[in-house]
Amino acid sequence: MFSFDRRDFGSDFTFGVATAAYQIEGGQGHGRGSSIWDTFSATPGNVHNGDTGLNACNHYELWPQDLDLIRDGGFDAYRFSFAWPRLIPEGTGAVNQAGLDFYDRLIDGMLERGLKPYATLYHWDLPSTLQDRGGWMNRDIASWFADYATLVARKFGDRLQATATINEPWCVAFLSHFLGIHAPGYRDLRAAARAMHHVLFAHGTAVDALRAEGTKNLGIVLNLEKSEPASDSEADKAACNFGDALFNRWYLGGVLKGQYPDEMTEWLGPHLPTNYQDDMAVVSRPLDWLGINYYTRGLYKASSEPGRPAEMVKGPLEKTDIGWEIYPQGLTDLLVRVSNDYTKLPLYVTENGMAEVEGDNDPRRTKYYEDHLKAVLAAKAQGADVRGYFAWSLLDNYEWAEGYNKRFGLVHVDYQTQKRTPKASFRAFQGLLHNSR
Ligand code: FCB
Repeated sequence: MFSFDRRDFGSDFTFGVATAAYQIEGGQGHGRGSSIWDTFSATPGNVHNGDTGLNACNHYELWPQDLDLIRDGGFDAYRFSFAWPRLIPEGTGAVNQAGLDFYDRLIDGMLERGLKPYATLYHWDLPSTLQDRGGWMNRDIASWFADYATLVARKFGDRLQATATINEPWCVAFLSHFLGIHAPGYRDLRAAARAMHHVLFAHGTAVDALRAEGTKNLGIVLNLEKSEPASDSEADKAACNFGDALFNRWYLGGVLKGQYPDEMTEWLGPHLPTNYQDDMAVVSRPLDWLGINYYTRGLYKASSEPGRPAEMVKGPLEKTDIGWEIYPQGLTDLLVRVSNDYTKLPLYVTENGMAEVEGDNDPRRTKYYEDHLKAVLAAKAQGADVRGYFAWSLLDNYEWAEGYNKRFGLVHVDYQTQKRTPKASFRAFQGLLHNSR
């Protein structure tokens, strides 16, 4: 049980759960095209245990019971993502009617249950044919993405409560093109520099496209970490500043101020697209809200390796089952920082949650949510305009490079039988939210 009351968050505060298409849908076939996660996960060595999203949670067929769970939990909203290759199998051109029908059913299913649809256009499942053409390294992705946004706006826009363009652009760009951990698995500075700019440029063109079609309430979802130096030494503080620029300020500065941090443009230098400065007005199109995904802090020390500006270190705090430090204070600090230094837009915590070992009894997770929801209250008390909170995730699901091995769900999934079993943490939310809908 949580120790606070729903009313402490204010009467218009939205509570929801979040998922992403590739992590839960399965339902491949039905006209859906290949995505970079299908090919990346089929490549030996990329994903724990060789797991793929082929079946995942079979949300494609089981969505009615999943929406029932969200309603029964007392949540107000469901944050989900559209799979681009399900709607436009080749990324551009012909549309897949079965895909349109699926999202029609899903969105209508939410509305019938009184759940507000919070949509994300891109949560990492790029159509493979677009990767063949360079994917996020190719500037043309801005127009491919805008055309896809137009389709979503025309078919679904009037039924969506809110729409985000991109989920976690740092992951799309840097984790996937420099660190090589996510699809398409590049390890190349130039590839990363291009993706870092194009992902935000495409975000801006999609905002224009959505707005031109009359879709309301547009935002983007950034993953942010509280950056801290591993020690008080000047060298570690400088490393922390670099890490903060790379992880947080590139995206906050680009989207909200139309400006990238100097230390980044210097570092990336000639690898950035020529005349990227001319795109900054599009990158920073006005938004209606900002989503923040928060899991942990980033701890930095100076690197002894030549050419490496900073190194991340494992900190001493208690860790989740995926090895991330548990640090609720970081969420308060980030929300207050964004509100003081970047924007007065309504803020939403669009993801927060923890991986825990398998089981239905998850007291550590309940405590994690308790402490992070308190962190949200603390940020609100310090003036941050936080309007909602989405738990990651409704279900145990396909955790990208970690496969099915890491479980983030409020609801346990048995992948053999697809049976869903609510965990104690789900019941804690139910206790908080019951009678409120
Ligand atoms: C975030 C992703 C989400 C999930 C959580 C654990 O970075 O947006 O899909 O994998 O981490």
